[in-house]
Amino acid sequence: MDSYTATQARMADLDGRIRAEPSRFRVLTGERPTGRLHLGHYFGTLSERVALQSRGVEIFLVLADYQVITDRDTARDVGVNVREAVLDYLAAGLDPAATTIFPHSAVPALNQLLLPFLSLVTEAELHRNPTVKAETAASGRALSALMLTYPVHQAADILFCKGNLVPVGKDNLPHVEMTRTVARRFNERFGALFPEPEPFVTASPEVPGVDGRKMSKSYGNAIALGMGDDETAAVIRRATTDGGRRITFDPERRPGVAALLTTASLCTGTAPEHIAEAIGDRGSSELKRVATEAVNERFAEHRRRRAALADDADVVDGALAAGIERANRIADQTLEEVLDRMGMRYLPA
Ligand code: TRP
Repeated sequence: MDSYTATQARMADLDGRIRAEPSRFRVLTGERPTGRLHLGHYFGTLSERVALQSRGVEIFLVLADYQVITDRDTARDVGVNVREAVLDYLAAGLDPAATTIFPHSAVPALNQLLLPFLSLVTEAELHRNPTVKAETAASGRALSALMLTYPVHQAADILFCKGNLVPVGKDNLPHVEMTRTVARRFNERFGALFPEPEPFVTASPEVPGVDGRKMSKSYGNAIALGMGDDETAAVIRRATTDGGRRITFDPERRPGVAALLTTASLCTGTAPEHIAEAIGDRGSSELKRVATEAVNERFAEHRRRRAALADDADVVDGALAAGIERANRIADQTLEEVLDRMGMRYLPA
């Protein structure tokens, strides 16, 4: 069995176990609030979270604001990005009563777990993390100590609530591995306290941006969930296609055309080859019209709900306040347990 097949098999098995006993799982997942959520987030992670929630799995969702400054100087826009993300979560169907939504910076005890956890790993191990290496190279900056250690901070994100299931993209697998190492070493040294969380790699295909590369805000090729119909049309109009009249699905040779077909396919549930066939030889302009319509129809309801939620300022504040309150209660308790195990709870309560 190759490693791809092995992963697929493991995910199918995990899926079965989640269906059988959803209450045995506590999911911790998250993202960096660096910009508006887009279709890549929706099809890659957000829809999966909603599905897990509807199966009765308890979910913790961290807006990793301290991770924003791993590769940039400022966290200035973080407040807006957090609020916009919460609107998308709620519009997509996450329920603040079932899903605990909170930013790092609002949960001090979670951050304090970083210190004991750092004592459990070596500098050499931190330097070996392939994702940290790639992100440092992409940033064009010197490796900061926060960039080097953020995978351990991410272990604190996961372990503060004793999360045992972590939905992540492939690029975050080394961080889940680090989390398992931290949990195992803590348990060995101080007695069993933490689960060794399992990664849950989403089955959905990578969502291409309008230029054929992976959809990413930093490539400027993203369709944000909160865009209006006209803004969506404008982004798709700028997509790089080619002059061939006949539309075919050929990701290798026609990445721009294939990206729009894939987008339309994800939104409609029709295979990209069939969409191409239906367009026939009506060329790129028809392809763009079809893709725009597919996105705008698929997200009409999401956008309507999002706008209604945005009209009531208390909705986002209320969801965050509830999440922060619950996250703090759990983080405080875990920190107490950790200090106790370490022999550091020597002051009167
Ligand atoms: N590193 C993740 C990303 O870049 C975001 C993240 C932060 C995360 N903390 C997490 C993901 C904990 C899963 C679990 O997308």
